[in-house]
Amino acid sequence: MTFPAQRPRRLRRTELLRGMVRETRLSVAGFVYPMFVCPGSNVRQEVSSMPGVHQQSVDRIVEECREVAGLGIPAVILFGLPETKDAAGKSSLSATGVVQRAIEAIKKAKLNLLVMTDVCLCEYTDHGHCGVIENGEVANDATLEILAEQALSHARAGADVLAPSDMMDGRVAAIRNKLDANGFSETPILSYAAKYCSAFYGPFREAAQSAPQFGDRRSYQMDPGNVREALKEVALDLEEGADMVMVKPALPYLDVIRAVRERFDVPVGAYNVSGEYAMVKAAAQKGWLDEKRVVLELLTGIQRAGADIILTYHAKDAAKWLKT
Ligand code: PBG
Repeated sequence: MTFPAQRPRRLRRTELLRGMVRETRLSVAGFVYPMFVCPGSNVRQEVSSMPGVHQQSVDRIVEECREVAGLGIPAVILFGLPETKDAAGKSSLSATGVVQRAIEAIKKAKLNLLVMTDVCLCEYTDHGHCGVIENGEVANDATLEILAEQALSHARAGADVLAPSDMMDGRVAAIRNKLDANGFSETPILSYAAKYCSAFYGPFREAAQSAPQFGDRRSYQMDPGNVREALKEVALDLEEGADMVMVKPALPYLDVIRAVRERFDVPVGAYNVSGEYAMVKAAAQKGWLDEKRVVLELLTGIQRAGADIILTYHAKDAAKWLKT
C-alpha cells in the first residue's frame, strides 16, 4: 500500500496525536547533574567556558543539590578541586577531602537524591594525568590501588554510585574487590567504559583544573575512530563487575551508544560533556540557536540512541522545560 492510502502526515497533525505516537519520551528520570566542589565556604565561581556551571564550596553545593532534587533530577555526580595536588593524587583519599565532605553534607540534608562520584586522579595530580607516572608514562597497575582506595573513601563517606573515569585496565575489578572486602558489596559501579580521547573535554579541564601538564591522554583514553574496541571495553568492565556502563562524549558517539545498547543488557549511560554544552551555550548567547529546542532535541537524540542515563550540564534547564 502506498500513497494515497498511506499518509504519514496524518499522525503529525496535532500535538496530542504526535505525543501519543512519540517513540522516545525524554524523561528527567535518567538525568545526572555534574557538579564541581571546591574548598572554602560560601564560594560560587562561574566557569567562564560553561555559563550556568559553578565551582562551589560544600555549603553552596548542598544548596544547589536541594534545587536539583526539587526539579525531580535523581542524581548528581561530584568532581573535586582539592586544596593540594601531588604526583600520586594523595589528596583524593582523604576522609576530609572536598568530595568526601560534600558527599557527607548532601547525605545529611536527606534529599531525595543519589550522590555519584567521579573516581579518577587527574584532578588531584600535579601533572594532571589520570594515573601515576613511571618512566615518563602513565603507569597502569601502580594506579589501580590508589583508585580503589579513592573509591572506598567515597563509599565510606556515603556515595551511592561510584563512577571510575580514568580508563586504566583492570580498575573496575580493583575497585569492586576493594569495596567488597570492606563491606560495600551493595555499592554499584557505573564505569566510564568507552571513554574517548576527546577535544570536547576542554571546558571541563578549566572547571576541574585538570589539564595534563605534559602530553595528552591518548595512551589511555580511546581513539575516536573505534567502535569494536568500545564493545570490548564494555565487555571487560562488565566481566570485572561494573553494574552500568557509560559512553563518553555523547553527540559524536551516538552510534557507539546504539551499539552498546544492542549488545549488552545493562543500563547504558552517556555523558553529554562540557564542550558539547559550551557549543550550545555560546551559540544561544549569540542568538544563533534556540537553546530550549536545541537542548531538548539533542537530549532526545541521546536517549533515542539508547542511553538510559544522561549525564548533562543541561539537566536543570531541561527538567524545567520538560515540566512546562
Ligand atoms: C576525569 C574526567 C574528565 C571528564 C569527566 N571525568 C576529563 C578528562 O578525562 O579529561 C570530562 C567531562 C566533561 O568534559 O564534561 N578523568
